[in-house]
Amino acid sequence: MEKQQVSKVSSRVEHLLQPFSPHLEASFAAWKDPFDPVHNPNGYINFAVAENKLSLDLLLEKLKHCRNIPPSVLGYDDMRGNESFRKEIAKFLETYFFHRSVDVDGIFCCAGAGCALDLLFQCLLEQGDGVLLPAPYYPGFIHDIEARARCRPIIVEPTGQHFRFQLQDLEKKLVECRHSGQSVKALLLCSPNNPLGFMFTREELENIVSWTRQNGLQLIVDEIYGLSVFSKSSKLVSIGSVLDELGDDVHFVWSFSKDFCMSGLRAGVIYTENRVARNALRFLPYFCGVSGDTQFALTQLLSDSEFVQNFIRENTQRLYETYSVHCSCLDKLGISYVPSEAGFFIWMNLNPWMASHTWESERELWRRLLDKAKVVLTPGEVCHSTEPGWFRCCFSAASSEAAKVAWKRVEQCIVHHQEENRKREK
Ligand SMILES: Cc1ncc(COP(=O)(O)O)c(C=O)c1O
Repeated sequence: MEKQQVSKVSSRVEHLLQPFSPHLEASFAAWKDPFDPVHNPNGYINFAVAENKLSLDLLLEKLKHCRNIPPSVLGYDDMRGNESFRKEIAKFLETYFFHRSVDVDGIFCCAGAGCALDLLFQCLLEQGDGVLLPAPYYPGFIHDIEARARCRPIIVEPTGQHFRFQLQDLEKKLVECRHSGQSVKALLLCSPNNPLGFMFTREELENIVSWTRQNGLQLIVDEIYGLSVFSKSSKLVSIGSVLDELGDDVHFVWSFSKDFCMSGLRAGVIYTENRVARNALRFLPYFCGVSGDTQFALTQLLSDSEFVQNFIRENTQRLYETYSVHCSCLDKLGISYVPSEAGFFIWMNLNPWMASHTWESERELWRRLLDKAKVVLTPGEVCHSTEPGWFRCCFSAASSEAAKVAWKRVEQCIVHHQEENRKREK
């Protein structure tokens, strides 16, 4: 009998059968050979992964005292997160984000903010529905929208200053899509913003909510960098504090990955007031819950309100100092950047170092900095920048000392390249 050909994977996951992008591969390589001032001074300095390494000492010390688990932690519990964990999260959100009461029943814990977004898209949207996504964006959003929920990102290109979108950009895109028969069901916002480092004002959020409501769209606001506001003159305005009630159509996402430097613990939070979505969400975290051990440790951590307050103060001060070190290095090199007030990023213009104003030149520069300077940046192309030559630098991913080494290496690499070019031209 002839052998039937059996496909290796189902059609549900066929779209995942693609290699990692070169910029992800570069980060994997950098992880294997990381810079250390004493033990590996020639290692890679990786500014391409959104992590905060500046305050690990404070957390490691605290976590040592949060892991004395009782037997109950070893058993099954509510998959949304056990009650004590969700109660602590509710108090925490009330204090730092919402400044009003938060209903414990609207809190759903899962394995990170990426997972939280995926769950929301699965619950609220149909396969194939479009999600408006302002560019430049955090590249992982594409995966969060597409991978499991099978929704479609619809990129909105910005026309405002410093790459910021305006309401008319959203409107134009929505009209265009609806004219061509595409279904658009949601808008995904990120504030504080990855990669631009700005936050929406109260007025902007109010206008966006009235616009999404007029157009029957779900609004999902990712505030994962909400407590990483380092500018002395800025304050977070959370969507939870703008609206007295989120209603059925506005949803909040946060996680411990960034503000508490714990991307490896995989603990994210959804807050929704949509009762139907809540019913569905009761079941889904079974597939992607936070382990009992992690919930226990994080409950202990959050319940120490003095620690949390001091940690946020110290962490934002460290972010501010490291951001300032990068800015002065960039100023010395004559590189311009979009001023940032929160989050981990500097969005900077490396056009002066490119042979031409093209995506190809951007890729070539990225590769040269990676191979010759061993400095990893995120090329703007993967964030869907509207202009070649912009790069994202995650400044919190390494110490200020490493930052100085990195920019020195970059300078040497650029100078060397320019000299080589001059010799070749002669
Ligand atoms: C804006 C934004 N949302 C979500 C995530 C994913 O976070 P988590 O590690 O909690 O899944 C990231 C990670 O870089 C991010 O920058």
